[in-house]
Amino acid sequence: MARKKIALIGSGMIGGTLAHLAAKKEMGDVVLFDIAEGLPQGKALDLSQCGPIEGFDAKISGTNDYADIAGADVVIVTAGVPRKPGMSRDDLLGINLKVMKAVGEGIKNNCPDAFVICITNPLDAMVWALREFSGLPHNKVVGMAGVLDSARFATFLAWEFGVSTKDVNAFVLGGHGDTMVPVLSYSTVNGIPVNDLAKIKGISEERIDDIVQRTRGGGGEIVGLLKTGSAYYAPATSAIAMAEAYLGDQKRILPCAAYVEGKYGVDGLYVGVPAMIGANGIEDVVEIELSDEEASNLKVSIDAVEELVDACKGMDETLA
Ligand code: APR
Repeated sequence: MARKKIALIGSGMIGGTLAHLAAKKEMGDVVLFDIAEGLPQGKALDLSQCGPIEGFDAKISGTNDYADIAGADVVIVTAGVPRKPGMSRDDLLGINLKVMKAVGEGIKNNCPDAFVICITNPLDAMVWALREFSGLPHNKVVGMAGVLDSARFATFLAWEFGVSTKDVNAFVLGGHGDTMVPVLSYSTVNGIPVNDLAKIKGISEERIDDIVQRTRGGGGEIVGLLKTGSAYYAPATSAIAMAEAYLGDQKRILPCAAYVEGKYGVDGLYVGVPAMIGANGIEDVVEIELSDEEASNLKVSIDAVEELVDACKGMDETLA
């Protein structure tokens, strides 16, 4: 059986980390693409030289030519400009929309059968635009946000409870932005609802609210600390989990920005929901029951995504 091919569009901080993880896990051969000349080639060479030390067998190459991503099984897109301190995700819209156009065309012309995972921000609007520009089926284009946001929520909860992060299963819905909806009712510590454990441990509702707020601002907190870029280890790790679910037909239910039609009161929009990933891409969207408060928070989040999509339509007439 031929080896799988993983194309990484964007060879910056997340792209390089993705390449390392994919090679280390021997998910397939890796092609790093970027518009910056020398960057993908340099990273590919550096990463290839990890092979003999780490003992992985994967071909890693770098390119500035879309023809080299031909036949890719998985494409992970990080191309674009990351958020700078003080810049909101939404400020990025205009710049990254143009990038999505070029990337979407590159995918359409070279690997239309790929499973495409978008990471570029503002995520929910960019994944929508990438799908439009690429023309791929909706079930084959997905955005990475929920796995990362849920991991951030789980990390903060584990620290608060003083338990292993392995036992925390936290859940975040909605858009990847300040309106995301951490869903406490579906977040547990090895099956124990977070709210119940908080009562047992004497942790106040205010503390839990603080954790919800910290999760919402999780990306910004890291931008503020790094000063010259945004998070990359956890975003890359999250996308790799999604790619593995697809390549291994794992049928994992992961929170991701999936195309929703007729569920959660949404009619044709990318939004963060629990989705099943298997060999056919997004195979199902699971509609869970939400409290009134969660449902109204989700509505706010969906409206925010809709607004960004409308703004995209205003910026590029081919999207209208
Ligand atoms: N085509 C291909 N690559 C591009 C293009 C393009 N049109 N435009 C920019 N790039 C490349 C840049 O040259 C850069 O190498 O995208 C790469 C982005 O890398 P970084 O700036 O290091 O950003 P990174 O931290 O990897 O984040 C990428 O993910 O979380 C989001 O908001 C973040 O949108 C950003 C993305």
